Amino acid sequence: MANKFYITTPLYYVNASPHIGHSYTNIAADCLARYMRQVLGQDNVWFLTGTDEHGQKIQKAADQAGLSPQEFSDKMVLQFTSLWQALNISHNDFIRTTEERHISFVQRALEILHKNADIYQDKYQGWYCLSCETFWTDTQEKGEVCPDCKGPLEKITETNYFFRLSKYQDWLINYINKNPDFILPQIRRNEILSFLKINKLTDLCISRPKERLIWGIPLPFSPQHVTYVWFDALINYISAVGSFDAGDNYNSRWWPADLHLIGKDILRQHVIYWPIILRALKIEPPKAIFAHGWWMIDQAKMSKSRGNVVSPIDMANKYGIDTYRYFLLRDVPFGMDGNFSEEAIVKRFNSDLANDLGNLVYRTLTMAEKYFQGAVPAPGRLNEQGLKIEGNIKALAKEIDPLMAAAGGFNFGLALEKTWELINAANKYVEETKPWNLAKENKTAELSSFIRLLVDVIRQAAQQIYPFMPDTAASIAEQLGQDRIKKGRPLFPRIDLKTNG
Ligand code: MSP
Repeated sequence: MANKFYITTPLYYVNASPHIGHSYTNIAADCLARYMRQVLGQDNVWFLTGTDEHGQKIQKAADQAGLSPQEFSDKMVLQFTSLWQALNISHNDFIRTTEERHISFVQRALEILHKNADIYQDKYQGWYCLSCETFWTDTQEKGEVCPDCKGPLEKITETNYFFRLSKYQDWLINYINKNPDFILPQIRRNEILSFLKINKLTDLCISRPKERLIWGIPLPFSPQHVTYVWFDALINYISAVGSFDAGDNYNSRWWPADLHLIGKDILRQHVIYWPIILRALKIEPPKAIFAHGWWMIDQAKMSKSRGNVVSPIDMANKYGIDTYRYFLLRDVPFGMDGNFSEEAIVKRFNSDLANDLGNLVYRTLTMAEKYFQGAVPAPGRLNEQGLKIEGNIKALAKEIDPLMAAAGGFNFGLALEKTWELINAANKYVEETKPWNLAKENKTAELSSFIRLLVDVIRQAAQQIYPFMPDTAASIAEQLGQDRIKKGRPLFPRIDLKTNG
């Protein structure tokens, strides 16, 4: 089905509170979902997010909190659902991996893979990192510390179940080669292709013995084991939107996903494990997987131990939801890492939002009130500069469309820049036209077509910024009314850095 758009975010671990990195993926996904609803209609977009609630990390955090993993997850999940509500995230569904609909689906998928011998039992000996929940083979492991987190490794021998990743390596390489937009941006695609050319995939251990971990989905064919958390979590993308029929065929109105948005740190699981799991289940791969970059603080990673974790709700309360959304999507090219700072937010706020957009709206509405008693004047003849702006209004959506698509790299920053070019052209038009002189000279026809053009610029800008700043777009629409103006307070009163805590 071509006329639909199914977009997903990762499922967030509930072991800690959400931070700005988590909010980034959901804001980007929300922006695309809102944009696509404008293009395809409300009913043709499905936006899924949720939480990842099984595994060692959660079990450990629950123990520390003195709660059962389920009680702990039930409590933590509220932080995510309330944050998404506060940030105006418009998901259609929220999936928790502890929900029955997910658990029974995962078990069915495991049974199919087991029946088809894509899952087999074997003895496993390896080095295990508790905090990353990762096995390391002898060649990868150096000096008994985890190559990722540098934490201690334990040597473990146990019976486990394995998924035949290795069998599908050639298929995967071929698939990636044939589908240039499957892994985005291109640098991630190249990274994965060279990884797959150099390394032979080993089969994936998808079980954990219950003596070591109780908090997971029991394997249907071996109740002494639970499912490895990544294997469980990835399946959410299909468990949430479809089901298997009696002949093991998967049916869904929404699958294949049009876009999985993820952070670059979880690329391998999404572009290696996930398409292979789907292939083994005879389900189509997602159309595209886009890995965005990381938000850093003073060029360093955010972490609890460094004590530099920034809370998204604090930022939204301090600067406004839309300012926060605008900043994240405007300041850093999507796909690259960015440095987060409040100074940078204030700078963007004062220049783009207060000076450019806020000022255009405020001065236009003020003039409409002053010269036309709050009526939106009729369109009329325009001078050369006006005609050019009129052309820009018409061309804007067509300029933005390719930037919001996979082939344009989901270039949110550039899409916003296009809208701002129009806003700035309109501000310049005001300064050069000097409407107060037109009023003095009683040039009512000129004044009226001039103000009407500004209103049209604002209407178009509001429509284009809606996916990024839904409240601002709604507030502009309300102030502009249909044919009468209802001027409100300035949208973005300037922030003075010196008085700003
Ligand atoms: N539970 C897994 C995902 C399973 S998807 C089937 C997971 N969860 S997570 O909570 O640790 O991370 C979720 C997402 O947040 C990842 O995409 C990760 O890249 C993103 N971010 C975490 N920290 C980030 C930043 N500092 N900046 C941007 N995104 C970051 O991984």
